Amino acid sequence: MADKAKFQAIKGVRDILPPESALWNYVEQTAREVFGTFGFVEIRLPIMEQTDLFARSVGQGTDIVSKEMYSFSDHTLRDLDGLRAQFLLQDLMFWLGPREMEEYFKALRSLLEAFDRGLKEESALGTEWNMASRERIGTLTHQFEHAIESIGHAENRDLLDETREELKRQVESLRVNVLTLRPEATASVVRAYIEHGMQVQPGNVKLYYMGPMFRRERPQKGRYRQFYQIGAEVLGTSDAPGIDAEVIEMLMRLFERLKLKGAVLNINSIGDKNCRPAYVEQLRAELQKEREQLGADSQRRIETNPLRVLDSKLESEQGIIAKLPRIAEHLCADCRAHYDEVKRQLGLRGIAYQENWRLVRGLDYYMRSTFEITAPGLGSQNAVCGGGRYDGLVGLLGGPATTKGIGFAIGTDRLVLSLQEAGEGGTTGGPAGKAVGPDVYLAWFGAAAQSATIGLARRLRDAGFVVELPAVEMKFGKSLGLADRLKARHAVIVGDDELAAGVVTVKRLSDGTQQKLGEPELFSYLQAF
Ligand code: HAM
Repeated sequence: MADKAKFQAIKGVRDILPPESALWNYVEQTAREVFGTFGFVEIRLPIMEQTDLFARSVGQGTDIVSKEMYSFSDHTLRDLDGLRAQFLLQDLMFWLGPREMEEYFKALRSLLEAFDRGLKEESALGTEWNMASRERIGTLTHQFEHAIESIGHAENRDLLDETREELKRQVESLRVNVLTLRPEATASVVRAYIEHGMQVQPGNVKLYYMGPMFRRERPQKGRYRQFYQIGAEVLGTSDAPGIDAEVIEMLMRLFERLKLKGAVLNINSIGDKNCRPAYVEQLRAELQKEREQLGADSQRRIETNPLRVLDSKLESEQGIIAKLPRIAEHLCADCRAHYDEVKRQLGLRGIAYQENWRLVRGLDYYMRSTFEITAPGLGSQNAVCGGGRYDGLVGLLGGPATTKGIGFAIGTDRLVLSLQEAGEGGTTGGPAGKAVGPDVYLAWFGAAAQSATIGLARRLRDAGFVVELPAVEMKFGKSLGLADRLKARHAVIVGDDELAAGVVTVKRLSDGTQQKLGEPELFSYLQAF
């Protein structure tokens, strides 16, 4: 007999169960309210995007893109790799004889048919690159088939081999549509901003979003493979430091409203394309001198991204890092002025901050302001929010080069965890969570009572009461026992006697007091609670 499968959620993902889900709703609702007062509106984004979008914006060399993305080829072209392998095999055997040559062309045709089908269904990318390759393959195949009639001449064989080589290269370069479950949403917001021409809107475009993100990280407390973010982005032509400060103010306002205690704001400026490259080179040179003392990750980063070494938490590297040159001393005049003004603007808003020269963030699109907020109760994964300015990103993704951007994302899982650890809201939904259990349990006895209670339940629910209406008839004791176990506040009892008298019996379950009431009195009685 086959084993009965026992399914569990996959590693690093989890269910958010009631009553905790009420706390999530409360957090999200409060964010909507606070962000709304700052003029932000919601954007709902797709969960998947083309892989290239993230590779280009977050950066090819980042941990997120190089190690953590969930990517897959669009399934209708799943067979393209197989067909490509088949073609390459036939290519190796091309000169063995006429049958092999025939098989070679057959394999090439099957591959091209699949690719063309994919283009139609948009599972192959219709990029310039792909279209040029596809066209070149068509021309080469044509020439090749034409020339093959004169095989046997030695000089022709060389020529044919050249064509074959180029065909092979072109076939290897055909790309299928690779999709990725979004590891973050800034790239998607920018993509949507450009796609929908939002730059024509007056003033700054202020958007917020909430939803799941996906990164293949090593799961631990506060770190999941499917996690949730509440994020906001400001896009427009201005990079005024007052925008940076207001975005941070909005965040702090939300945390205050949620009564998140002990949140610490860290800020930094990582310069721009005028001043950062020289600093990075200097950092690289200093790190080279200490290479042998560094761990494997940092050694690799000397080449790929020396700034990220500053993020290192490795105990053995802390002494070396403390002596490294600091970006603050290498900012150009414009970046320095911008950073100073951000700090002054934070001061105007009464926002306390810590400057942290090591705060570089793990995504490539940042420039100038970066910030992170830590919260207590989270162990090593204590960043509850991260963000910063990304002025070049819109241009990089093909939008107007003058568009500036800044934003943040809160890790909702961590925010909720920190609130729970502080006992704020507990697990029962916090200040927004209603006490558990329905307001009214409608106990009915007999067919006539059932039809009467269906109508009564509807009227009670329309008035906003939480009503539990048993779907089947139960014995009196069992029914009232269930009302107790569900922690209902009141049992409203309807049987033949009540129907005849035009009343219901209301029993307050906390103390057992009961009385008979007509419907209008029942409503006023319940409303008084
Ligand atoms: P990030 O720092 O990668 O930035 O993520 C922001 C926040 O998401 C983190 O501070 C953390 O709270 C949470 N987070 C990240 N990874 C995980 C995980 N595996 N499990 C649980 N929580 C996690 C961004 O994503 C940028 N898009 C933020 C941004 C918006 N910058 C500008 N605009």
